Amino acid sequence: MGTNQSWGGRFTQAPDTLVAQFTDSQTYDRILYRQDILASQAHARMLGTQGVLTQDEAKTLIEGLSKVLAEIEAGKFTWRASLEDVHMNIEARLTELVGSVGKKLHTGRSRNDQVGLTFRLFVADEMTVWQDKLRALIETLCTKAKAEQTTLLPGLTHLQPAQPICLAHHLLAYAWMFKRDCERIDDAKKRVRISPLGAAALAGTTYPLNPYEVAKDVGFPAVYPNSLDAVSDRDFVIEALSCASILMMHCSRLCEEFILWAHPSFAFLTLPDAYATGSSIMPQKKNPDVCELVRGKSGRVYGHLLGILTVMKGLPLAYNRDMQEDKEGFFDTTTTVINSLGVLTGLITHLTFRRDRMLAACKQGFLNATELADYLTQKGLPFREAHHVTGRAVALAESKGVCLEDLDLPTLQSLDPRIAEDVYPVLDPKTAVARRETLGGTGPVSVAKQIEDLTQWLNHA
Ligand code: ARG
Repeated sequence: MGTNQSWGGRFTQAPDTLVAQFTDSQTYDRILYRQDILASQAHARMLGTQGVLTQDEAKTLIEGLSKVLAEIEAGKFTWRASLEDVHMNIEARLTELVGSVGKKLHTGRSRNDQVGLTFRLFVADEMTVWQDKLRALIETLCTKAKAEQTTLLPGLTHLQPAQPICLAHHLLAYAWMFKRDCERIDDAKKRVRISPLGAAALAGTTYPLNPYEVAKDVGFPAVYPNSLDAVSDRDFVIEALSCASILMMHCSRLCEEFILWAHPSFAFLTLPDAYATGSSIMPQKKNPDVCELVRGKSGRVYGHLLGILTVMKGLPLAYNRDMQEDKEGFFDTTTTVINSLGVLTGLITHLTFRRDRMLAACKQGFLNATELADYLTQKGLPFREAHHVTGRAVALAESKGVCLEDLDLPTLQSLDPRIAEDVYPVLDPKTAVARRETLGGTGPVSVAKQIEDLTQWLNHA
């Protein structure tokens, strides 16, 4: 075996087979071929404009790269492990196709700035797909929320019954989280979409390059301010993985709720058959595996974030081969994010909520205790005293095994004489929800406004 044709000039021995396998990244980084070719074409065009190459040479390179692209897309490209990575595989094939002018493509460029631009383009593209998927999920949540504006269920704190809320409000809480995720990605993309091309290996180059033109050509709004930073920064992928981790955490929480709600002791929802699985031994089972897997997969995304943070933490400037480890974690993450968001959106679309069960659950756990306390406050009792009286009412009802509204008027009046017949409508969970029209509350007007605001945002985002 000969030495590597791209860098083998000073070597007399080919890499050991194990070393070649160990350093080879083309098995997985070939997925970057489209972005690598786009970036190389921008580089060639700029070399032509700057007079570093002739316009003819630039044209030959650009057209040759388009041929390579077509070969790859047609499945006719032969990937060679001996050429290490996607960049050198493409350049070698270009040279085969266009002859020795192909060897001029790399003028004024290093793989260090090349891989930076290629990967940044890829990461930005994937983040845009995440945003599309997030918007579809938000839309689905809004559609469901619209249909569940009068559905009541117990709102919980500490997983204990707290106050009644409407289901739309609960679903919209997640819609707002996913909207923030979408906006967070927008913000992170500003720092992903910076072109490092022109930094060369680490120090800049002696050729009269125009990095602005390359950035513009590939659609990036900004260029690097420092060549060392340009080739050794991986915080763009760390930010992308942070965005992914946060959005997966939100998915995971929602899935956890669905898992609880699918349990017979809640029975708040019916899982669509197409989104549930059975057991090979227990015939009665209908398991929420889809939700469990989304919840589980959030773990592997966090793992990738921690992985790249750890890879980077001790690296001196500038490029180090360690940085090649930035890719597989991201590739796995983007597949995980796209699949998780897609499957979750499908699941929600086909979910049916058990409104009867949710309403029945509002009868348990004295969800209306706060209403009684607020009622007493309105009758002139200081809140702390009202809280105390209500606590006694709860204890009394609990000892009788009934709800607060089942206590008759004389019993309630024995706790505080200010309680009158008009307490009963106040204790109804519908009233409790209807009266909570404070900012972002669970009241119907507030909920309708949330749906309206999110819809507006979806139409403009
Ligand atoms: N495959 C490499 C990576 O992903 C490309 C850069 C290699 N640069 C170098 N000087 N060896 O990081």
